[in-house]
Amino acid sequence: MAFPTDFFWGASSSAYQIEGASAKDGKGKSVQDVKEIPAELPDFTVCSGHYERYKEDVALFKELGLKAYRFSIAWTRIIPDGVGEVNQAGVDFYNSLIDELKANDIEPIVTIYHFDLPAALQEKGGWGERATVDAFVDFARVCFETFGDRVKYWQTINEQNMMTLVPEHVVSGPLEGYPLYQANHHMFVAQSKAMAVCHEVRPECKIGPAPNISVNYPASSDPKDVLAAQYADAVRNWLYLDAAVFGEYNALALDFIKRSGYTIDVTDEDREIMRNGKPDFIAFNYYATGTVGYVEGETLVDDEGNIHGPGSQVDNPHLSKTEFSGWWIDPVGFRNTINEIYTRYRLPLVVTENGLGERDELVDGQVNDDYRIKYLSEHIAQVKAAVDSGIPMFGYNPWSVMDLISTHEGFLKRYGFIYVNRTNDDELDLARIKKKSFGWYTRVIESNGENLSTEI
Ligand code: BG6
Repeated sequence: MAFPTDFFWGASSSAYQIEGASAKDGKGKSVQDVKEIPAELPDFTVCSGHYERYKEDVALFKELGLKAYRFSIAWTRIIPDGVGEVNQAGVDFYNSLIDELKANDIEPIVTIYHFDLPAALQEKGGWGERATVDAFVDFARVCFETFGDRVKYWQTINEQNMMTLVPEHVVSGPLEGYPLYQANHHMFVAQSKAMAVCHEVRPECKIGPAPNISVNYPASSDPKDVLAAQYADAVRNWLYLDAAVFGEYNALALDFIKRSGYTIDVTDEDREIMRNGKPDFIAFNYYATGTVGYVEGETLVDDEGNIHGPGSQVDNPHLSKTEFSGWWIDPVGFRNTINEIYTRYRLPLVVTENGLGERDELVDGQVNDDYRIKYLSEHIAQVKAAVDSGIPMFGYNPWSVMDLISTHEGFLKRYGFIYVNRTNDDELDLARIKKKSFGWYTRVIESNGENLSTEI
């Protein structure tokens, strides 16, 4: 088997990281706009300047050869305070962007919500409040009604699991007293409701969740390590996909949540909503696997069966790490993850993020990112192997289409095929410069994934 001819070779971004214009044309503030940013990092007023330059950018996406573009809609552009009137200028922006993509035969794959909750909702308790569920569903409905004639592929919430496991980068303000797993539960209910609304409003559209999924290996064949890895996977991965696909809580994850002292109020109505909202596919982001060991005293599961945390991560002697972040590089783990997801859920899969963040250098007008070419080539080879083995995958959208603000390091850490000429403290001219990986990815797409050679 080869990649299907209509495979979505794409690339990815998110609104708050790429657009800039964070206070323009009636946009409200999101949690990203109000959170405290360390002095050495830029805020989100300019980012990559995509809001103003989207036409030039889409022309470059076309030249890159993209068949799809995965991006998110800023909730605060459409409904500035999270609830209430629709801001027409925000609608106009996404209408123009979507039209531009369609005119260039690039399929929009849209995330409804990517880490940028309206600050006005956060002030009232954010996802800790049930009111946010209704606000999200209303916003999703506006998106389906307004853009669903042209956008066929939707994702609900980007990386809900990371928002729960690492809440500090998406919740502005103090986390003390934040009802973590209740907020997480509200996101489940919101997601299921939004999926049902999508099918009701736009039966021709498809929708799915977009968590960050990667398997955890047991540190050894010691049964205790295996148990620890099972719990880590349940808490990190399957909790989120079981809720989205089956509308149910994963048993091990629920065990962990309860033993960790969290309480969740789940009503009969919630249960019904979760059972009724069904995804058409699973979108997922993959960066790095984990390896989990049973460590006495600091372990996931102790001798009495008590669970203390989402796992004791240990080194994996078979893998190397990325230069910048020290994340494990594991292309085969990508396939292990794909296999595991498909075996559990049997839904079509689309990769919505995967990529290498590094300190790219612009030298004589060029960026020779051979390390990225190698990384992507090895990862795409595993997607190909998965497709060859019969797993229905319909797209690969590496992070990121162009340089944008990373979640913690601004423009120091870059992922794009297109270099954006700015630094963390100087916006320079924001010129777009094609990196070496740009030409390489074009060739990959032209060959429909057959030519993965790193020589270029
Ligand atoms: C994912 C997010 O977690 O990883 C993106 O969906 C993020 O928003 C990406 O930018 C890469 O992570 P980072 O921390 O290097 O920006």
